[in-house]
Amino acid sequence: MNMDYVAKLEAATGLKFDPAKLPRHIAIVMDGNGRWAKQRGQKRSSGHRAGVEALEDVVIACRNLGVGYLTVYAFSTENWSRPAAEVSTLMSLLSEFAASKLKRLRDNQVEVRVLGDFAGLPVLQRAALNRLMSATANVRTPDEGLVLNLALNYGGRSEILAGLKRAAAELSPRELQEMTEERFGGFLATAGQPDPDLLIRTSGELRLSNFLLWQLAYAEFYFTEILWPDFDAVELFRAICAYQQRNRRFGALLSE
Ligand code: FPP
Repeated sequence: MNMDYVAKLEAATGLKFDPAKLPRHIAIVMDGNGRWAKQRGQKRSSGHRAGVEALEDVVIACRNLGVGYLTVYAFSTENWSRPAAEVSTLMSLLSEFAASKLKRLRDNQVEVRVLGDFAGLPVLQRAALNRLMSATANVRTPDEGLVLNLALNYGGRSEILAGLKRAAAELSPRELQEMTEERFGGFLATAGQPDPDLLIRTSGELRLSNFLLWQLAYAEFYFTEILWPDFDAVELFRAICAYQQRNRRFGALLSE
C-alpha cells in the first residue's frame, strides 16, 4: 500500500481510510458509457473508448491501494445482441487494450486473466488476449501485484453450469454427493481466488445482470450515479471508504 497515495486521496475527498479494512477483491459493473457519450453529443464508441481509460486508472489505483483482485464486467453474453457496429467497436477496443496496455500492466505487476467463454471470442481478440495473459502470467510476487479478471463473453449462470459439468466429468458419484461450497468454487472461473468483498456498479442501475452470481453471495454492494468514463481513483476511494463503514456479518449476528 502506497501511503502517500492514500494521503492524497484522503485530502481530495475528506474521507478517512482504514488500511486494516482493505477489500481484497473488488468487482465492477462498468456501466454508462453510452449515456456519457450521448451527454456530449458523441457516438457510443467514444464512450467505450473513454471507458477503457477509466479502467486503466482504476487498475493503477487498485495497485497503489494494495487491492489484490479486480474483476470487471467488460462484455456479457447478452452484449452480442447490440448493433453489429457497437459489438465491433468493443472487440476492436479489446484487442487494442490488450496490445497497447501490455507493457504498463506488466510493469505494474498486473496479471490479466479472462473469465467467460473464451472460445466464443473472435480469433483476433483471442490472440491478443493470449499474448497479454502469457506476458503477465508471472509478474506477481507473494506480496505485490494485482490479478485483473476481464469478464468477457461472460454470464454467471452459464459459468455455474460449466462448473457443474466439469465437476460431473471429473469426480466420482460419491465425491459429487459430498460436494462442498468450497470445493465447488474450485470448478468456477475464479478458482483459487477470494470472493469479491465489494461490488461496484456505476450509472445508477441497480441490477446484477448475471455477474458473478456465485461469488457475490456475501459482497457489499455500492451503487453510484457516476457514469463509468467519469469513474476514477477518487471515486474508487469513495467506494472503498463506504465499504469500510459497513458491518459485515456474513449472516451471523456479530456485535461491533
Ligand atoms: C456499459 O455501458 C459498458 C459496456 C457494455 C462495456 C464495458 C466496456 C468497457 C468499459 C471498455 C472495454 C473494456 C476493455 C477491457 C477493452 P453501456 O454501453 O451499457 O452504457 P449505457 O447504459 O449508458 O448505454
